[in-house]
Amino acid sequence: MPKIGDIELPDFPLLLAPMEDVSDPPFRALCKEQGADVVFTEFISSEGLIRDAAKSVMKLDIYEKERPVGIQIFGANLDSMLQSVEIVEKSNPDIIDINFGCPVKKVVSKGAGAGILKDIDLMVSLTDAMVKHTKLPITVKTRLGWDEDSIKIVEVAERLQDVGCKAISIHGRTRAQMYKGYAKWEPIAEVKNNPRMHIPVFGNGDVDSPEAAVRMRDEYGLDGAMIGRASIGYPWFFREVKHYFKTGEHLAPPTIQERVEAARRHLQMSIDWKGEKLGVFETRRHYTNYFKGIPNFKEYRMKMVTSDDAVDVFDAFDEVLEKFGNYQFELQAP
Ligand SMILES: Cc1cc2nc3c(=O)[nH]c(=O)nc-3n(C[C@H](O)[C@H](O)[C@H](O)COP(=O)(O)O)c2cc1C
Repeated sequence: MPKIGDIELPDFPLLLAPMEDVSDPPFRALCKEQGADVVFTEFISSEGLIRDAAKSVMKLDIYEKERPVGIQIFGANLDSMLQSVEIVEKSNPDIIDINFGCPVKKVVSKGAGAGILKDIDLMVSLTDAMVKHTKLPITVKTRLGWDEDSIKIVEVAERLQDVGCKAISIHGRTRAQMYKGYAKWEPIAEVKNNPRMHIPVFGNGDVDSPEAAVRMRDEYGLDGAMIGRASIGYPWFFREVKHYFKTGEHLAPPTIQERVEAARRHLQMSIDWKGEKLGVFETRRHYTNYFKGIPNFKEYRMKMVTSDDAVDVFDAFDEVLEKFGNYQFELQAP
């Protein structure tokens, strides 16, 4: 069974990927209830944390019920990263994850996120310093390399392990690919097959069906799957994968009652956590998937995603339940 430091995980754990504006405490809690074994916060700027920027600090909140939880930070400056480790520790997470994979220009141009893939020595020395600066397990999330011509992930993973990184999650794309094309799992399997590797190697990218998760486990031999987009508005993805692992059969999709209940709880937890305005706004992106497949749904969806008033959104959920209460969802990949 894979372990992250002292944290024992089940066989082939499913990890909720860090996702900006998505993997906040309410969403993480819902995914945890549906079977996610480890959850991660969205990336948090080390510079923002040390400036005490309210937006960054708020992202450190965690609920007890979601453990084990990793807080993900990014940055390229050693002092800022070390200071932010101290700030993050106060939130008492189970893991601190370093983002060495974010491809967006504003992060990369500062040498952070995937930008560091151009300077592997710095990536290793930052990890080394952070490992030495905390008792919490440090993990890394990264991509295959900067571009197709500079994929050295086997060597990079080994060097990270040697300085004390406790697990590595690898998105099977390069920075140059952004989100285009397919994630390649072969190079991730090469990392896993390196006889010197003993820390867990988690695969990430395009795990969008229970069958894909089985392939990652059985054909590529990885230690677990990190799941991002397939879970957005569909926290049931985790339980569906686990059911498929156990039985080889697909679990029936969630009923409309379950979907409405999840949407309601998600919105209520978001409002409790960040207030009505932000709670209503930031939960919107999940509704399309919560109710995907319902015919002629536009009228209700519009109400959910355009109203600034929580009461209207809760009303829309009630109307959906009343109108589509008996709707039978087709078995489909989310
Ligand atoms: C909306 C969104 C936000 C993301 N934010 C982060 C982030 O904060 N940190 C990170 O390491 N990766 C981030 N990612 C990348 C995902 O963690 C993941 O690596 C990627 O989506 C590939 O996995 P998937 O195919 O399962 O979605 C984000 C992806 C999406 C779609």
